[in-house]
Amino acid sequence: MGFIKTVIFVLILLIAGMIVFIYSGTYNIAATEPHSLLVEWVFNTAKKYSIKKHSEHITRPKLSDDSLVKAGFDHYENMCAGCHGAPGTEPAEGFNPSPPDLAEEVEELSSIELFWITKNGIKMTGMPAFGLSHSDQEIWSIVAFLKQLPDLTPEDYDALKNNGSFDFDIPPEDEEFYKHKH
Ligand code: HEC
Repeated sequence: MGFIKTVIFVLILLIAGMIVFIYSGTYNIAATEPHSLLVEWVFNTAKKYSIKKHSEHITRPKLSDDSLVKAGFDHYENMCAGCHGAPGTEPAEGFNPSPPDLAEEVEELSSIELFWITKNGIKMTGMPAFGLSHSDQEIWSIVAFLKQLPDLTPEDYDALKNNGSFDFDIPPEDEEFYKHKH
């Protein structure tokens, strides 16, 4: 057999093998079963670059605004805390992938990436797309609150729940808005 024919034969065998495997039911779809390293790498890498690319044309508004952060807190408490937890509350269990503690993630993600994720959701993960039910303005308020999350103590969070306030920081990304002020 020539080289090309051998390659085609092997490819057909591989595809046939995959189809038999898929229909056999051998693959364990349980959320309790961890992904293999390969699947995890493919998914996480595709996710990271997909979010970067799809969010790159979004322009963000100024986020250091008291009423925006407060509105974002209300949405976070109602729409996100049940899965992602909050200062003093652990994220929900039983998901695969798990909803991360966003206080640890928001420093790795830019505001426009956070906006895109919240608006569009993430396929096959349980992370919903809130853009179907919420305006861009509401989603930006959530991003404004997320940016403050790493500095919030459980006491600050409780104070917000009881209609109190806390002194928020200007996120570094927002400094440009202040520099350009005359
Ligand atoms: C039903 C549960 C659920 C709800 C409600 C939910 N999420 Fe998620 N979220 C998830 C899961 C599960 C993931 C993990 C996805 C992954 O690992 O790819 C996730 C991932 C994310 C990520 C990406 C984190 C990262 O490091 O890649 C962000 C940001 C996020 N959620 C924000 C929010 C916000 C903001 C809200 C509320 C408006 C919210 N989520 C509500 C389940 C939820």
